[in-house]
Amino acid sequence: MRKGLLLAGGTGSRLFPMTQVVSKQLLPVYDKPMIYYPLVTLMLAGIRDVQLISTSRDIPLFEALLGDGKQWGMQISYAVQYQPLGLADALRVGAPFIKGEPCALVLGDNLFYGQSLEEQLTEASQCRGACVFAYHVANPSAYGVIGFGPNGQIEGIEEKPAEPKSKYAMPGLYFFDHRAVEFAAEVSPSARGELEIVDVVNRYLALGELEVCKLGRGVAWLDTGTPDALAEATQYVAALEKRQGQKVNCPEEAAWQQGWIGDEELKQLASQIGGSYGAYLLGLLERT
Ligand code: G1P
Repeated sequence: MRKGLLLAGGTGSRLFPMTQVVSKQLLPVYDKPMIYYPLVTLMLAGIRDVQLISTSRDIPLFEALLGDGKQWGMQISYAVQYQPLGLADALRVGAPFIKGEPCALVLGDNLFYGQSLEEQLTEASQCRGACVFAYHVANPSAYGVIGFGPNGQIEGIEEKPAEPKSKYAMPGLYFFDHRAVEFAAEVSPSARGELEIVDVVNRYLALGELEVCKLGRGVAWLDTGTPDALAEATQYVAALEKRQGQKVNCPEEAAWQQGWIGDEELKQLASQIGGSYGAYLLGLLERT
C-alpha cells in the first residue's frame, strides 16, 4: 500500500515573525490550518497511512491537532527531522515508516484544489517508477523547473534556475516507488547546502521511469511561503467557499466521502468542533 509523507519542517524564515514560535504549516489558510490542505491531497489519492515529519519543537502541536488519525479513519504517525537538510532528507527520516513500500510525498505548505485533481492523483498513484506534476507559473525561477524537448519529452529538472528552460514548475507533490529512499541516500548537498528532491526525481528520469503529468489551468496550485502568497491563498479559499457553500480541502468531509468514516462519526466530529465549521459538517448529512 502506498504510504504518505507530509513534510512540515523548516524554519519558515520568510514568514518571520509569524513563524517565530509556531510552525508555518499550523498557520491558518482562511478557516483551517495550512496542514489540512496537503493532508486532504493525500487522502484524495487514497492514502490512509501518513507520517508527518517536522521539528522536535512543532511535533507536539501537530500531534495535538491531528492525533493518530483514527477520527478520520486514518493512521497518522510522526517523525522528527532534527536539521533542515532538505526535502530528500525527509525520505531518509521517513525510511523506517515507508519500509520498502511506494510513497507519496507532499509539502505541508502546498495547496492543491480542482475538479480533475482526484482523477489525476489516482492515475499518478498507479505509476511505475515515479510521477511528478508540471504546472504553468508566472515565476518559474522560484521552483524546480521542468525542461521539455522539442517533442515534449522531459529533458531535465533544475532547482530554482536563474534562466528557467520553461514556465512549468514542479509542485511539491511526488509519487515514488520503493526505490526513493535508496536514491535519496545517494544525493549530495546542493550549492544551497540541501539534499534536493529534484536530484531524486532526476534519477528516475535517467532510468526512463519518470512520468510527468501536467496540471491544467482548472487546477489551483498555490504555495504559502511568503506573506503575500499566504494572504492570496486565504483570499482564494475564502472566495470559493463563500461563493459555493462548500469547503476546500476539509479532512472530515474527505474522510466521510471516501467512506473511511460514517455518518455517526461525522456527527461526532461536528459536535466536537462546533461553530460554523461544525454546522457545515452537519449540513453535509442533509444534502442529497
Ligand atoms: C521546494 C522544491 C521545489 C518545488 C517547491 C514547491 O522548494 O525544492 O522543487 O518546486 O518546493 O513548493 P522550496 O520550498 O524549498 O523553496
